[in-house]
Amino acid sequence: MFFIDTTVDQDFKISPQQLEAAITPKTKLFMFSSPCNPTGSVYSKSELEGLAKVFEKHPDVYILSDEIYEYINFVDKHESIAQFSSIKDRVIIINGWSKGYAMTGWRLGYSASNTEIATACDKLQGQITSGTSSITQRAGIAAYEGSLDSVTEMRNAFKKRRDIVYKLLKEIDGVKVNLPDGAFYFFPDVTHYFGKSYNGKTINDADELSIYLLEEAHVSTVGGDSFGDKKSIRMSYAASEEKLVEAMARIKAALGKLK
Ligand SMILES: Cc1ncc(COP(=O)(O)O)c(C=O)c1O
Repeated sequence: MFFIDTTVDQDFKISPQQLEAAITPKTKLFMFSSPCNPTGSVYSKSELEGLAKVFEKHPDVYILSDEIYEYINFVDKHESIAQFSSIKDRVIIINGWSKGYAMTGWRLGYSASNTEIATACDKLQGQITSGTSSITQRAGIAAYEGSLDSVTEMRNAFKKRRDIVYKLLKEIDGVKVNLPDGAFYFFPDVTHYFGKSYNGKTINDADELSIYLLEEAHVSTVGGDSFGDKKSIRMSYAASEEKLVEAMARIKAALGKLK
């Protein structure tokens, strides 16, 4: 597996040039998510088109597009890379009920792909797992057929929380952050704190900073190394506004102690 690195300065999105440079004759599959976990980045239609043009030149490469945050999107509307007919047959969409319908725990998801891939998935899955329960399936149908009003309400609440956390993050010296357009995460670059210490403990990387915040501020974040980036930590804003404001104050205070 090969990762294409991105930075906060490029909104954690890859360019067509980066994609082109990463594809080799051995490349079988490109995986990405938009809106993205852990960065919250959302590719625009024209950015996706730029990537699709690269894939046009590589007809043997499949594209796995995880679109589970489809509805937690603060731009106009969700854009899928499957909309480009030149590559559509090679796109495998992953989606589910966990995020848009807040049905995490129900364990219901789906993929959409060409028949050959779908049949192969069916064959494999049929041998490894049992089917999702009929109760879950009925709940999934109800969610799909019902009104999107509550989904929109949730999305608006997330947007408000994003704006609150963004403002508070920008007020912390040394935290480098972009404004994410979707999902419910920030992925700030925290390299400013590397080499700094408090109480005899020196922070060497993002994982150590994440542990420091847990121990010192009692706030849980995830070290970026789990996502292939040692420079950032992931912060989820799937919590109440009150808790988020409190968490940000604690984080600011704890980071302020690092000298
Ligand atoms: C990008 C992405 N895809 C898929 C999932 C999986 O969701 P679940 O296993 O709850 O269906 C998650 C959950 O965090 C996610 O962030």
